[in-house]
Amino acid sequence: MVKLVVFSVFLMGFLRLHAASSTSFKPETSLQAKRSCPYTVIIKTSCSSTTFTRDQISLAYGDAFGNEVYAKRLDNPASRTFERCSSDKLEINGPCTRNICYLNLLRNGSDGWKPEFVKIYGPHANTVSFNFNTFLPNRVWFGHNLCHGVSAP
Ligand SMILES: *[C@@H]1O[C@H](CO)[C@@H](O)[C@H](O)[C@H]1NC(C)=O
Repeated sequence: MVKLVVFSVFLMGFLRLHAASSTSFKPETSLQAKRSCPYTVIIKTSCSSTTFTRDQISLAYGDAFGNEVYAKRLDNPASRTFERCSSDKLEINGPCTRNICYLNLLRNGSDGWKPEFVKIYGPHANTVSFNFNTFLPNRVWFGHNLCHGVSAP
């Protein structure tokens, strides 16, 4: 009986944590270029990541033609982003790209963070998903580049 109560309390806490950890926010972006395209970025944090992270997270992605979207800070200490098992939805405005073929993340801090995947929906670009499933190294850009061989139509 006691065991059951303890389990229920644990489960309630667990469910509440997850309800609270689905956040949606607009990260700070640099003012380097005309901002004309809206993107929705979904970041899933692995269930084997740290409980949460206070590290600074930056994101950059783009196409094979030099169009790049850069978000200096995705983390938001006020809303505890990137908690273990959570999905974070970001609305980013940036330069318009054609098909997105690379994506890199930069982590800076001592907590650590293990993203599972980053998925991007853009108005003129393909919907892409980049898998990570690994703890990010500290203070180096880390990601995927599939642009090789892409040429202008
Ligand atoms: C990492 O964070 C520290 C402290 O905020 C900062 O001084 C440093 O420039 C950052 N390094 C990178 C690669 O972003």
